[in-house]
Formats: sequence, structure tokens, C-alpha cells
Amino acid sequence: MKIIALNGSPLRSLGNTAQLVKEFLNGAREAGSDVEEINITNLKINPCLGKLVCWINTPGKCCQNDDMASLLKKLKGSDVWVFASPVYWDGVTGPMKNVLDRLLPLLEPYLELIDGHCRHALRPDVKAGKIVLISTCGFWELDNFEPMLTHLKAICVNAHREFAGALLRPHGAHFKYMVKNDKTAKDILAAAHTAGSELVNDGMISQDTLSRVSQEVIAKEEYIEMLNLNFDKLILKYRDAK
Ligand SMILES: Cc1cc2nc3c(=O)[nH]c(=O)nc-3n(C[C@H](O)[C@H](O)[C@H](O)COP(=O)(O)O)c2cc1C
Repeated sequence: MKIIALNGSPLRSLGNTAQLVKEFLNGAREAGSDVEEINITNLKINPCLGKLVCWINTPGKCCQNDDMASLLKKLKGSDVWVFASPVYWDGVTGPMKNVLDRLLPLLEPYLELIDGHCRHALRPDVKAGKIVLISTCGFWELDNFEPMLTHLKAICVNAHREFAGALLRPHGAHFKYMVKNDKTAKDILAAAHTAGSELVNDGMISQDTLSRVSQEVIAKEEYIEMLNLNFDKLILKYRDAK
């Protein structure tokens, strides 16, 4: 099984999202999968120009000459696409949205009815497969992922892929501010690792494992206090350094 994970956090490997991606991919690799992680903010991927050149003039090929061409090649040959992005204004980050828009060359232009709904067929050289979502957010509640989850599940249907699960980590800032060897933080990362192996071994991620990734780490009021204190400290530190 070939898994490609795209991380859309501008903080790349230093971010909260990257911690989950790393453990998830370690679990998948140890279970025998071929994995690749790509920080898309290291790449040059422009926004879609909307001209439909990839459907009309050069079928299956985008008119822009940037890093999306090589990324599309990798996506075409991968069984699992992992989209990893922090929540930015209730959705994916800008770089990740560029990637999603630029998936258009993978589809045929013609409309067809599937279960009574308009869809585009996949081009014949694109593998069918699965999608996994990995995300972290700053607010405490799990419902902050709802818009992104709905978006990614809709993309799954349009891209003829199966949704294999979402690793969602609310109050993600605890990764930065809580002690490194905190028992709960360790269990969350262990669950992300298990999610990777479950995907490879069972073809899906269990609800039990996903719930462990999303588990409550700290009471809401305590989290707000901790974060606000940290902001106070950081703001003072930078003001004094001036
Ligand atoms: C521009 C911006 C917008 C954000 N919007 C939200 C938001 O709408 N809801 C939320 O819960 N967190 C929001 N956050 C917080 C991030 O989702 C959170 O810090 C996340 O863990 C960052 O992941 P990373 O370290 O992998 O970049 C936002 C952060 C930034 C920088």
C-alpha cells in the first residue's frame, strides 16, 4: 500500500499537525506500507487559474508550470491520500486549498449521473483509493473540525475515494505547552501510531482509536487560562526585548 501524506501547515515539521502525521506514518510504515510525507509549503503550488485548460486544451495536464505536476503524478499512483492541515478560519490552510483546487486534472470534464447526482469520472490513469484527514485546532471543542470534515468527505465522493477516517486533535496547543512526557499527550501520539497500522492491516481506522486521538486533555476553563497566560508571557517577552 502506497500512502502519500501532504502537510499544509506553514510550521511544517515544527507544528502540532506534524506530530500526528509523523506517528501515523510511523505506524503505517511499521505495518508494511510505503509512505511519503510532503510539506506542501516547501513547494511552489499556485492557485488554480480556473481556465479549464486541463479539461479542454491539454486533457489531464495543467497549464501552470509549478510543483503540482510532480505532486499529481505521486497522487495518481497512491492508494491513500492523507490531507493534513491545521484549522485556519474553520477550513484548511491556503496552501492546502491550492492543492485541492489543483486536483482538477485528475477528473474527466464530462458530467455523469451517479446515484442521481452530477459527478465527473476519474481519468483512467488515476488509482481509486482512500482519503485520511489529519487536523489540529486551537479552540477547545471538537466541533471546530465540522466544516473541514464536511469539505473533505465531499471531496472523497467527487474524487471517487473512500473516507478512511479523521485524526482530529482539538485544543492542539497543549502539544506545545504541556510537559513533553505528559501521559495523555503520549497516549494521543500512541493512538495516531495505531491509526496508521490499523489503516494498513484492516483497511480502516477504528472509532476507538480515533476517539483516543481526540480525547480531552485538559478542562476547557483550564485550557483558556493556560493559553492566555502563555500569550501574556510571550507578549511581555517580545515587548521587553525591543
Ligand atoms: C491564521 C490562523 C487561523 C486559525 N483559525 C483557527 C480556527 O478557525 N479555529 C481553531 O480552532 N483554531 C484556529 N487556529 C489555530 C490552529 O488551528 C492551531 O494552532 C493548530 O494546532 C496549528 O497547527 P500547526 O502547529 O500544525 O500549524 C488558527 C491559526 C492561525 C494561524
